[in-house]
Amino acid sequence: MDTILEVKDLKKYFSTPKGILHAVDGINFTLERGKTLGVVGESGCGKSTLGRVILHLLDNTGGKIYFEGEDITNPTKDQKKKLRQQMQMIFQDPYSSINPRMTVSEIIGEPLKIYEMHKKGVSCDEEVAKLMDTVGLARRLYNAYPHELDGGRRQRIGIARALALNPKFVVCDEPVSALDVSIQAQILNLMQDLQEERKLTYIFITHDMSVVKHISNDIAVMYLGEMVEKCDAKELFHTQLHPYTKALLSAIPRPNIHDKTRRILLRGEISSPIDPEDRCRFCTRCVYAQEKCFQSEPQLEQAQPGHFVACHYWREIEEGKVKAQEV
Ligand SMILES: Nc1ncnc2c1ncn2[C@@H]1O[C@H](COP(=O)(O)OP(=O)(O)OP(=O)(O)O)[C@@H](O)[C@H]1O
Ligand SMILES: [Mg+2]
Repeated sequence: MDTILEVKDLKKYFSTPKGILHAVDGINFTLERGKTLGVVGESGCGKSTLGRVILHLLDNTGGKIYFEGEDITNPTKDQKKKLRQQMQMIFQDPYSSINPRMTVSEIIGEPLKIYEMHKKGVSCDEEVAKLMDTVGLARRLYNAYPHELDGGRRQRIGIARALALNPKFVVCDEPVSALDVSIQAQILNLMQDLQEERKLTYIFITHDMSVVKHISNDIAVMYLGEMVEKCDAKELFHTQLHPYTKALLSAIPRPNIHDKTRRILLRGEISSPIDPEDRCRFCTRCVYAQEKCFQSEPQLEQAQPGHFVACHYWREIEEGKVKAQEV
């Protein structure tokens, strides 16, 4: 196994006037080179924060990050410079992450300039033109401004810019959520082709389950800062062990009107991520919740080979011994 990234008990807390907000709270996973880990969960569960902490765009509060076997939790200045080349991010809204006063070629070429690639014998103009070809941007757009382009082309600029320094690992934070569905597919295909050509490793963050299904090898489901389930993508769509994952997947619109799978509606109050109590964070909304769920927090355990879940009662739910309560 060629592990590129390992994250151990990673934490990011924010101090807020109301208390300590546990945005990322003890995340563990390993990621193999060339693969994609999909990260899903509803708004505010800590997906972006997780990505940003791994890339050192935010300091971590605790835990460890290893990249290619090296401890990069607290990188030195030199290490940080190297990591900025090797680890990149593609953002949700291409327009807000792009300087509107710069032309397409200036935006894509900026990382090359910052890293003084011309000193290494790289012709920046030539490199920008090649990057534009790589992401399918016509060369006539070289001097265009982002506002002249549609969302799909703007996201291609974001991808070209992320690839400029030839990274090994890319965090893609909702890269297609702001795009029309037809354009989403084009961008996803482009990202998959690039992954294959360049052996890129992705963390793919989204709240869209149908998008994540196609692009991920493994999927991690997050709930209020924690990972509640993780396994192979196909396996997850076949068998969900965590009640939250069951609800999340039941909400995907189904093309077959005869499909009688019931949508599980999430009711109850969302627990607060601020100074969370020692209990399951999903218990207030869970239709299977028992007394124990309100008294202690379940840990992530391996339920089946490669399939991890954090629920006190996953086995009993599977066996039908704990039934969903009608709310
Ligand atoms: N700089 C900050 N200061 C305080 N709290 C923050 C900060 N950044 C994020 N948070 C909080 O951390 C939690 C996780 O936020 P995050 O943006 O990572 O969620 P997300 O899963 O990416 O959500 P979305 O799907 O809406 O993008 C939220 O409760 C958010 O309010
Ligand atoms: Mg986010």
